[in-house]
Amino acid sequence: MTKSKVVLAYSGGLDTSVAIPWLKEAKGTDVVAVTVDVGQPVDLERVRQKALASGAASAYVADARAEFAREFILPALRANALYEGVYPLSTALARPLIARHLVEVARKEGAQFVAHGCTGKGNDQVRFDLSTTGLAPDLEVVAPAREWDMNREEEIAYAAAHQVAVDATKSSPYSTDENLWGRSVECGILEDPSVEPPEEVYGWTTSPAAAPETPAYVTVTFEEGVPVALGGRDLPLQDLIVELNRTAGAHGVGRIDHLESRVVGIKSREVYECPAAVVLIAAHQALEALVLPRDLLDFKRTVEQRYSQLIYDGLWFTPLRESLDAFVAATQPRVSGEVAVKLFKGSARIVGRRSPHALYQPALATYSSGDQYRRQMAEGFIYVWGLPARTWAAVGTRAASTLTPAPPPRP
Ligand code: ARG
Repeated sequence: MTKSKVVLAYSGGLDTSVAIPWLKEAKGTDVVAVTVDVGQPVDLERVRQKALASGAASAYVADARAEFAREFILPALRANALYEGVYPLSTALARPLIARHLVEVARKEGAQFVAHGCTGKGNDQVRFDLSTTGLAPDLEVVAPAREWDMNREEEIAYAAAHQVAVDATKSSPYSTDENLWGRSVECGILEDPSVEPPEEVYGWTTSPAAAPETPAYVTVTFEEGVPVALGGRDLPLQDLIVELNRTAGAHGVGRIDHLESRVVGIKSREVYECPAAVVLIAAHQALEALVLPRDLLDFKRTVEQRYSQLIYDGLWFTPLRESLDAFVAATQPRVSGEVAVKLFKGSARIVGRRSPHALYQPALATYSSGDQYRRQMAEGFIYVWGLPARTWAAVGTRAASTLTPAPPPRP
């Protein structure tokens, strides 16, 4: 009988490295490691070698940066997706993509199981489990860190006993996750939400206090809701994001301190650095404000809120996400134009916007000469528009007769 196989999402860190011998021992399976590059600083070949050295039967690596940008970040950007109004969902968006790669390899390898290194306390387990089920309901998900009962010291001892190399230089008290759309930091002193995050938690952004004394301006060009150029220079989306992370980060833009509500009911304190996401979402919103009518903007905001929550909750591969995506896509054909953003000491302010589809019409908006607005019509409009409010107020003050003449007396 052939041995059963598990496809493991492998980062190269301690947890997923220890998971390799653990899965072999506890589950009696061969382990196939899969590492997906979503823009984290990783040497893919080194990670692959480490998976094999830690006992994996085979190890795959995939550069998924372009796929991540186009298929996951872009729909989220077009939906201005911010969980609880502040978190651009960087980690959350990468999970369904990684799960899709795991499922693909599981099919190729004829594996019965998929595994990930998430603990039982976080959101990521929910996202990996639900994404896998949504794509491949027949595959079973194993989460070693949810099952084993080891603290960090015990894990290190387990690693030593199983020929797993431990990177001794990585003794930071913080737990981080990085990809194109942002960097997250948890643990250590951050677990006290009353304490300001110390400067050392930041890796992508300059402290606003130490940022340049002169502002920088960036112009983002959008075509149908897709950012296509920076400062007039065309760039593939993934490169545009990398460049903007650098520029905006150097001005201290993109730091987020979030008291967050996890899916599993726990409140947690999370620090994020998302310079490109913060700038692009603000710029995209500014362009939408110029080209979309009020009722559509208003309704879209309710969709955006729901969409952000479902991404956070791990429900990417669901018909609700697909349907909301279709709505958002239908709002974007006129979202083309340019937005100027001023970066200065931690802030990103929109200072200009321009579009061939602008609903802003000088002839209507101006208070100077050339005004074409028919101002006399306003009075009639206000009379009709205000009737319900006026009726309500009049009835409340027993002055309804001022609105309607009394009916003639019956004969
Ligand atoms: N709280 C954030 C989220 O749920 C970040 C999670 C970071 N994940 C990690 N494995 N370090 O999306």
